[in-house]
Amino acid sequence: MPGESVTARAEDALRQALGEVEAARDAQELDRVRVRWLGRKGQISELLGQLGKLPAEERVEAGAAANRAKSQVSDALQEKLRTFRDQELRRRLEDERIDITAPGARLARGTLHPLTQLQYEIEDIFRSLGFEIVDGPEVEREYYNFEALNIPAHHPARDLQDTYWLTDGNVLRTHTSPVQIRAMETRRPPFRVLAPGRVYRNESLDASHEHTFYQVEGLYVDQDVSLSHMAGILTGFLEALFGEEVHVRLRPGYFPFVEPGCELDFQCLLCRGKGCPACKRTGWVEMCGCGLVHPNVLRHGRIDPGLWSGFAFGLGLNRLAMMRYGIPDIRLFQSGDLAFLNQF
Ligand code: DAH
Repeated sequence: MPGESVTARAEDALRQALGEVEAARDAQELDRVRVRWLGRKGQISELLGQLGKLPAEERVEAGAAANRAKSQVSDALQEKLRTFRDQELRRRLEDERIDITAPGARLARGTLHPLTQLQYEIEDIFRSLGFEIVDGPEVEREYYNFEALNIPAHHPARDLQDTYWLTDGNVLRTHTSPVQIRAMETRRPPFRVLAPGRVYRNESLDASHEHTFYQVEGLYVDQDVSLSHMAGILTGFLEALFGEEVHVRLRPGYFPFVEPGCELDFQCLLCRGKGCPACKRTGWVEMCGCGLVHPNVLRHGRIDPGLWSGFAFGLGLNRLAMMRYGIPDIRLFQSGDLAFLNQF
């Protein structure tokens, strides 16, 4: 409005700008108002720019009016922006509210494999009998799997265990017995170790034969160890496992790494020895191979058979689990069948 005084234009601008600030509905609109009035080419900025050209008597009043317009509009903009931010914050707090008392989503939980459960139980029992739980490799050297266990090359006992040979001459261990040698090499008698683990045999598969199964190996080395120590420990183990009185018997059995070698049976818990389908009418259930450690085996473990003796045993974990839980087919263990696994 030419002719109008700068003072009047500044007062006009102030009124109008405050009205626009008031009417702005969000931060973007507010920013456009800011640019229009206070930006580098904004109308109030331009008024401030003209002050220099005014005659001195007009300049004081006009300068005061223009600066008042600038500072009041700027304050109003800030105030309004703060209101928008507060509103935004309140909206988000409301939207993103979390009810910490609401029940969580239920996750499906797995369970330990039945073989693992049984293994842990057996470990606990033997730990209570003073045994240390040890481990050995599943890819094993021929020496540990056979040689050191008194099974030299061409020995017929090698044929009893259909071995998976690897191209580098190592084997997938056919039993947990090699852990006996490794344990002897790394400790001084007396000691007691238990070695649970996975073993492999190149078998034709059926309801009672798997290529991959689990054994638990025990080794007890001390002075003057006898078969009655062995029978005592194994009976104690079985009674702890089944929670009732157990009767055992020893039969002769051949294993190259023990002398004498035995098979340990326990009296059938279902028929108490009378004979029933569970024990194939014999009254007895085969439990494990065992015996007194052969002197050659002690020597391979760097233990002097003149000073020390021991007993060892090896039991099949799958068979024990099948008896305990009434599992009809050994192949179920490795089937990955959830309907089977969810029962445990
Ligand atoms: N290693 C034998 C097998 O797999 C089981 C065995 C028998 C282990 C007698 C022993 C033992 O420690 O003394 O058939």
